[in-house]
Amino acid sequence: MTSLSTRMVTALKTAIRREEKTSLIYEQKAKLATEEKVKAVLTSLAKQETGHARKLEKALERKDISSLGAKKSSASAGSLSLKNDDIRKLEVQTEMARVLAWAIRAEENSFKFYTSLSRISKGLDVAELFSRLAEEELKHKERLEAVLARL
Ligand SMILES: [Fe+2]
Ligand SMILES: [Fe+2]
Repeated sequence: MTSLSTRMVTALKTAIRREEKTSLIYEQKAKLATEEKVKAVLTSLAKQETGHARKLEKALERKDISSLGAKKSSASAGSLSLKNDDIRKLEVQTEMARVLAWAIRAEENSFKFYTSLSRISKGLDVAELFSRLAEEELKHKERLEAVLARL
């Protein structure tokens, strides 16, 4: 049986890969964008997702994550799973309205994922990082929605 702390580390590594992948996709899509406001938001989000990956890498190095398994029941580990289907769907889109629509969905999923991580790690230092990331993903979603509405 895998402990929650092991699953948490796996979840963090998945999140780091997801952030890096999302950042690359946003950069690629920014190059495809003809409208300046779309290009600007995608470029800005690409930078922020890279920043998220760096913060998560730092959190992985901290010892408090390994203490999670002892503190919490493994029953909550189920909510740690994160599917990357949305990222793959986003990657193949070329039409900008569809790129934005899939990006919005991906941001919403990231928001939900970090919200779960934040709840599970309550009382630990990393909980604050996760809730901040959740807030930022929600802001990303709102920025994309605003741009999509004005297309
Ligand atoms: Fe992110
Ligand atoms: Fe984001």
